[in-house]
Amino acid sequence: MGHCSETRLPPGPLTFPGLAEGSQPPSAATLSAMNQTTPKPWEHAKGAAGSGADPLATRFVESLSFDRRLYRHDIAGSIAHARMLAAVGLITQLELGEIEHGLRQIEAEIAADFDGWKGWKVELEDVHMCIEAALIEKIGDPGRKLHTGRSRNDQVALDLRLWAREGAGQVQALLTDLRRALLELAERDGRIVMPSYTHLQRAQPIVAGAELLAWARAFEVAGQRLEVLARGDGTCPLGAGAIAGSALPLDRRAVLSLLEQLTDGAAAFDAPSPNSIEATASRDLAVDYVYALAMAAMWLSRFAEQWIIYASTEFGFIRLDGRYTTGSSMMPQKRNPDMLELIRGRCGDVYGRLTALLTMCKGLTIGYNRDLQEDKRHVFAAHDAVADSLELAARIVRTARFDEDRISAGLDHGFLDATSLADYLVMRGVPFRTAHQIVGSLVRTCEQRGLIKLEQLALDDFNAACTAADCAAGTCAEEVYAWLGPANVVRRYQSEGNAGLDGFEAQLARLRQTLG
Ligand code: ARG
Repeated sequence: MGHCSETRLPPGPLTFPGLAEGSQPPSAATLSAMNQTTPKPWEHAKGAAGSGADPLATRFVESLSFDRRLYRHDIAGSIAHARMLAAVGLITQLELGEIEHGLRQIEAEIAADFDGWKGWKVELEDVHMCIEAALIEKIGDPGRKLHTGRSRNDQVALDLRLWAREGAGQVQALLTDLRRALLELAERDGRIVMPSYTHLQRAQPIVAGAELLAWARAFEVAGQRLEVLARGDGTCPLGAGAIAGSALPLDRRAVLSLLEQLTDGAAAFDAPSPNSIEATASRDLAVDYVYALAMAAMWLSRFAEQWIIYASTEFGFIRLDGRYTTGSSMMPQKRNPDMLELIRGRCGDVYGRLTALLTMCKGLTIGYNRDLQEDKRHVFAAHDAVADSLELAARIVRTARFDEDRISAGLDHGFLDATSLADYLVMRGVPFRTAHQIVGSLVRTCEQRGLIKLEQLALDDFNAACTAADCAAGTCAEEVYAWLGPANVVRRYQSEGNAGLDGFEAQLARLRQTLG
């Protein structure tokens, strides 16, 4: 009976996206440790009844369940900030030493037991306040000086920038591994002659490797895009404060080199953000990052769709490894490409995150608004979805095989060599538009006679079509047959970047070299 009458929200945070590090809900122990009566350390102006007094408000406002994964970036930013404070004389060297030591200890404690770290207190709202509170608990007054000249607004803006660079590096490595998997499959099965498709109708013959390297190229571009976008405008928001900067003698330029040293160059910024209001109000970086992820997800989804079709009984071009297909609970014969379908499906999640971010920003006044806290939820979820999909895609590719027999069995259908025949006529001096017309009539002749291949026609047939189009009777010679048949055609392509044998080998060599 009891549970039916429960109309309030269940305990725990309202949403728990993702499964990766830091996106777990606060543990039961953390929740029960909530102190509902003591005001939050930064809510003294309110007297006793702060936002911690209502557990629902506490849960609603927290971001700890997802921003915990910023802890290393938060600590790096704090150390750089503290060093700057010491350099300008706002704290002593002794205090700096204690702050650094305390923060490093906290970092080690969290790294050793991420979920179980006792400093995670949901009533403190977020990663920033938990780390600061733990520092104060450890070292006392020097810890209370860390936040001098800083706000969570510039702090979180910096953290996210640092995280995005690292996140982009991770995705970049996964993109590279997927390209390597495509390269390996291309080395193995890449010379198999197969049809290409436009409009999903048979187009021209290609080699399988050219198509594999087409995906590899798309993922290369996706990586380049991500690298550029994850840097944002290259400016560092730390020192922008809550909105207006600070009356204290902060040295924002010194922070840049301190951050760079601390992170071995990973956190290199070109300049301090030039406007403190924009710096704390902007989430362009989050949107850019998720857009870059959305583009990677889009390519993953197209790839998945292609291979789902290729793995069908109707096509049978590709055989997927048993690990990446699933059976049906009812139909015993089934081998469904579920993993590819889920890669395609999760693209929707990433697009949704991008839309959520854009929508989140559109109605905000300039300056920080708490809506902006939601950015991380979307950035992390999009990142995790793409990272997982990329890793899985690489495994699917590594274990897949092209079925040469199935592919060649159907190769004679669809007049794949028609364009090649037109090219031959062009080489014989026929204007292309006329050549197109001649080949069109020859295809029609084949269909009327029940022939499936142009090479089944006699030389006289070719020349008859030429004369019908007002071309010389001897336009075609015996050599025309060397321009026909998919196996001949893939040897003839010579334009740079082509999808025939030469083009494939050249691209393969280039990719081998790039990937080392
Ligand atoms: N957790 C917050 C966020 O992610 C930190 C900033 C809070 N700032 C504030 N003015 N309440 O955005």
